[in-house]
Order: sequence, then structure tokens, then C-alpha cells
Amino acid sequence: MLVSGKEIFQDAKLRKYAVGAFNINNMEILQAIVEAAEELNSPVFIQASQGGIRYAGLEYIAGMGKIAAAKAKVPVALNIDHGTDFNQVVRCIRHGFSAVMIDGSKLPFEENIAITRKIVEVAHPNDVSVEAELGKISGVEDDVAVAEHEALFTDPDEAYEFAERTNCDALAVAVGTAHGVYRGEPKIDFERLQAISSKVNTPLVLHGASGLADDVIQKAIGYGIVKINIDTDLRIAFSEAVRKVVKEHPDEIDPRNIMGPAKEAVKKVVKAKMHLFGSVGKA
Ligand code: G3H
Ligand code: ZN
Repeated sequence: MLVSGKEIFQDAKLRKYAVGAFNINNMEILQAIVEAAEELNSPVFIQASQGGIRYAGLEYIAGMGKIAAAKAKVPVALNIDHGTDFNQVVRCIRHGFSAVMIDGSKLPFEENIAITRKIVEVAHPNDVSVEAELGKISGVEDDVAVAEHEALFTDPDEAYEFAERTNCDALAVAVGTAHGVYRGEPKIDFERLQAISSKVNTPLVLHGASGLADDVIQKAIGYGIVKINIDTDLRIAFSEAVRKVVKEHPDEIDPRNIMGPAKEAVKKVVKAKMHLFGSVGKA
């Protein structure tokens, strides 16, 4: 069933687990995620990134996501990931998304607050949850172990003020993770995460969680992370499976025989993450 992200955030915070938020780029990936959630009786976030929306088109993403959620017997939130444009976020709400993320992290503090508040005003009356971001989460080419990035990390006092003034439902924090494939050993600032979660009651979100060691993830959940975003690990699983089929069966021409194993590979990864995050059996 399609539910507001708020419902999932609150349950995860209360019962001290994290919900996986997985990016959807095509039907196979979407089905893999929702089937995994159903088989493990886990709540789940399915989310569309800017690239995903460009690739599939908002109507297709929204349509597929809503169908998958409606058919599922577990709670599913359909989310826009890293929305930066007010109008696009509003379009997503009109298309039936039950959760949105507004990423104003590149903006000055006051402007980030202003755009987040504007989104909250539109989203909440529609029972749509709002995730915001404070501090900048590094991109794929950045080395998060470099100290200069300290300046981009989320400040605990600012996080408190931000959460109070915006009334957002979840807050993505920058504590050392990065999007994409890690080039070095990621160094997570757990002290900072602990300081943020002791000041901020709003559920916290960890982005860039692909490639993190299991113990790092578990520690982060212990320090108050309730939503964990995974995209890269699914891309890797999908692409490796496609490559394997094509290599082993170079004459294969049926897309279903190429994409089918890729879907199963994604499902396996999603299930492993759900076990790790503690969301199994929580639906
Ligand atoms: O918003 C999406 C996630 O933060 C993706 O992170 O590249 O580590 O999978 P990832
Ligand atoms: Zn992210």
C-alpha cells in the first residue's frame, strides 16, 4: 500500500530500525525492490532521482511506482530524491508521490530554510512527507576522507534550528558519506552524528550508503539514522548480471532473458540491505 513517508519515519524511529530507500530507474529494479519488501515483510521507500525522472519520464515513474505500491501488502512510500526545483516537487505531489525530498543544501542556510518551508506548506496538507538536506554530501569524485570537507559537514546546532524552523519530517545529514563508488575508505564522523541526533528529534537520513561496511551502517542506525539511501549498489548488481548473461550467452536476443537475472540480482541486494537495516518483519 502507498503510505506517506511520515508514517514510515515515525515507526522506524520508534522501533529503532532503518528503512531502505532504493532508487528506481526501470520496471525490473522497481519490481525487485517491492518484491523483496513483500517477501521480507518490510516497509520500503522507492524513489526517483533527477536522472531517473529524466530517463523514464515523470509520468512513467509515478505510474509504475503507484502501481507497485498499490499492489504491495507492505507500506511503500514513493519519493522524489534530491528534488531541487519547487515546481518539479509540486508536480510530483500532483502525480501522487507520498514523500518528497527538497535538497536546498547548495543554498545559503536561510534560503534552504525558506524553500524547505515552502515545500512543507504544499506537502503536509496533502499528507506528503518532506525530507530536507543540510550540509553537503560529497559527490562521486570527492574523497570524503579529506579534511577540507569538514566545512561541508552538517553542524548540529544549525541542524536543530533548521528542523525547528522548517518542520520537515526527515533530515539528510552530511557526516562523511558520499554518493557513488567510494575511492578510499569512507570516514564517518560518528561524534557529529551523535551530536546531531541528541539535539534533533527529526528522523535522520543517511545518503551515499552504498559500499559502506555493515558495522558502519549498524552504528549509524544506533545513532539515530532511520532512512538509508541506496542506489549505486543496485546499479552495480544490475549491470554485473547483465554483463554476465551477455558474456555467457552472446546470442541471446530476448530482453527478458537479459533483464530477468538482473532483476533477481537487485532483489538479492535489496533483501540483504533490509536484513542489515533491521526492517525485516516491521511492515
Ligand atoms: O540519494 C541517493 C543515495 O544517496 C545514493 O547513494 O550512491 O551511495 O547509492 P549511493
Ligand atoms: Zn543522496
